[in-house]
Order: sequence, then structure tokens, then C-alpha cells
Amino acid sequence: MCETIKATYQDKDYPELAPVLDKYAGTRGSLITILQKAQDTYGYLSTDVIGYISARTGETPAKIYGVATFYTQFRLAPIGENLIMLCAGTACHVNGTQAIAEAISEHLGVDDGETTEDNKFTLNIVACLGCCSLAPAMMVKGPSGDAVYGNLTKTSVVKVIEEIRAQG
Ligand code: FES
Repeated sequence: MCETIKATYQDKDYPELAPVLDKYAGTRGSLITILQKAQDTYGYLSTDVIGYISARTGETPAKIYGVATFYTQFRLAPIGENLIMLCAGTACHVNGTQAIAEAISEHLGVDDGETTEDNKFTLNIVACLGCCSLAPAMMVKGPSGDAVYGNLTKTSVVKVIEEIRAQG
């Protein structure tokens, strides 16, 4: 993939992110904070957004990509309508995350980090969600908010996905 990097980046094109860079651009060690704010704002880190952050911080795009790809929390592609965050923390792992992940992948035709062709679902395998008593668990962030589903089985996870799909 080869995308053209814009020659100039202007604050007015990134009105939500410009104040964040005003605050953090000159602060050492703040790149992760900036990337988190950018992802919270735009949903993912596009080539343009990375270029803008590069222009404002003086860090090279290569370095920013390096950080963004090192940490699994960052996304470089847009997400689907519903973000499935399947927990792979210890409690969930020992209770069968792998089998649940396989069931989701098989049902939706996507692997970790991928989005379905109809743009309905993105699958992300994540660290502990903080509801270990429900292991194996997942959170789904969708248009109607966040929902946690626990004690998942290969059958129940497919049922949950189809219920979400039926909601529109
Ligand atoms: S390990 Fe999965 S919610 Fe904590």
C-alpha cells in the first residue's frame, strides 16, 4: 500500500486534535497520550492523522507507526459498526478464549484486527476487561453503547452476534 503524505497539515483540518497537540506536542514521552486522544476522536489512526501528528511533534511518521503498531490498543484501519473486544486475559484464556475466538472467526470470516466486509463487526482480542468472574467474556461497543457478555460458549457467542446483527 502506498499513500501520498500531504505536504502540509493545518490545525484547522483537525479541530478536535489541535488542542491536544497544543498541550502535548512539546512534552517528551507524550506520543502515546496523543495517539490515544487521536484514536478516541477519529476511531483509528489514519495516514493523514499520523502525518499531522508528525508535523506537529517533529517525530517521523516511521517512528509514530512503530509506536502505533507496537501497542495492540492502536488501530490503523477504520472499525466496523460493532467492535467485538474478546478478552484474552488469564482468567478468560484458561476458560476457553481460543475456542471462542475460533467460533467468531469462523462465523464472521475475520481474524483479530479485521472487519467484516459489510462493515458490521470488527474483532479485537484484548487484555483483561475487568470482569474476570464472567470468563470467558467479551465487550461489544456498538451504536447503542457498550455491552458485556460472559460465560461464553462457541454456541452462545454466535447467538449474541446474530442478535446484534438483527438489531440493525
Ligand atoms: S481475564 Fe477476561 S475479563 Fe479479566
